[in-house]
Amino acid sequence: MTVAVRPLKRKKSAADPADLLAWYDRHRRVLPWRARAGRKADPYAVWLSEIMLQQTTVKTVGPYFTKFLTRWPTVEALAQAPLDDVLRAWAGLGYYARARNLHACARAVVERHGGIFPADLDALRALPGIGDYTAAAVGSIAFDLPAVPVDGNVERVVTRLYAVEQAMPAAKPEIKRLAASLLPPRRSGDFAQSFMDLGATICSPKKPACVLCPWNDACMARARGDQETFPRKAPKREGKQRFGAAFVALRADGQKNLEVLLRQRPEKGLLGSMTEVPGSDWAHDFDLKTALDAAPLKAKWRKLGGEVTHVFTHFPLRLTVYVAELPRGTRAPKGARWAKVSGLTGEALPTVMRKVLSAALD
Ligand code: ADE
Repeated sequence: MTVAVRPLKRKKSAADPADLLAWYDRHRRVLPWRARAGRKADPYAVWLSEIMLQQTTVKTVGPYFTKFLTRWPTVEALAQAPLDDVLRAWAGLGYYARARNLHACARAVVERHGGIFPADLDALRALPGIGDYTAAAVGSIAFDLPAVPVDGNVERVVTRLYAVEQAMPAAKPEIKRLAASLLPPRRSGDFAQSFMDLGATICSPKKPACVLCPWNDACMARARGDQETFPRKAPKREGKQRFGAAFVALRADGQKNLEVLLRQRPEKGLLGSMTEVPGSDWAHDFDLKTALDAAPLKAKWRKLGGEVTHVFTHFPLRLTVYVAELPRGTRAPKGARWAKVSGLTGEALPTVMRKVLSAALD
């Protein structure tokens, strides 16, 4: 008698995009910019959300997205808005070059494409602030173009699925190739979003919920049991610490309202065109002994205890804050202006400056 011997372990199957789409149909996240199942997404809303979601979390973006869409419901409306209003509405989201590009892109869509986002990856990529990732995201989600946007979440899923040993960021081209190889013949937009959702909810950086994953059977890292160690990282080189001084000059106006001295940062460079309190340059070799040379006015400057710290993408910053009360009627020096403290929420103040002002005013 012959007995058929079945292998103890089921043969591993290749990842099937249809399994991920079926999972998405049941578990998709409800997000403010996402069209309901089966509905077409508004390309303007998709683009706006994708710009906001660059380097920013879904949770933070939510209220900003709703605020922008209510205030500027169409790309034409955004194109017509003064840049200053857009920067102000953006304040707190960080990476302010995005806000300037957002505005420039809205104008370009109106001027080049009559206010209609082009359903073409090259034409999308030619717009301000739209790189490979955003073109793929807008192209797939808004127009079902065959493209896979590869962000950090997708990188994590792919490196685990194929146990990619190469370290980041060198592995990026290989990850893109592998992600593209999974693209289904239809539903590119849903596929892109299902990939993002899988990375955000199941295939998390720590303790991924592999038992719930529609691709667990195909996942090479899971088969080895070392899924948490992907993606492989090259040793981190942190930016060098910088230091500086910030000056919070206060004066009472005629009605006893408190005012603070503000100025605009240069258009180009870090936090371009945003509002700040006057201060020194931010340097590795900043010398506190010479801090008062950068004060905007002659005054009795009082140094606050401690420092305000902030981490930018390329460097961490430590600011020493000085405060002074100036007599009523003190004129603002060239390039600066007095602004009501009660109206600071409406100013285009980046987070680091909000920290400085809270330290001085609280
Ligand atoms: N991250 C970037 N784009 C996203 C999107 N469309 N949905 C959820 N997370 C995202």
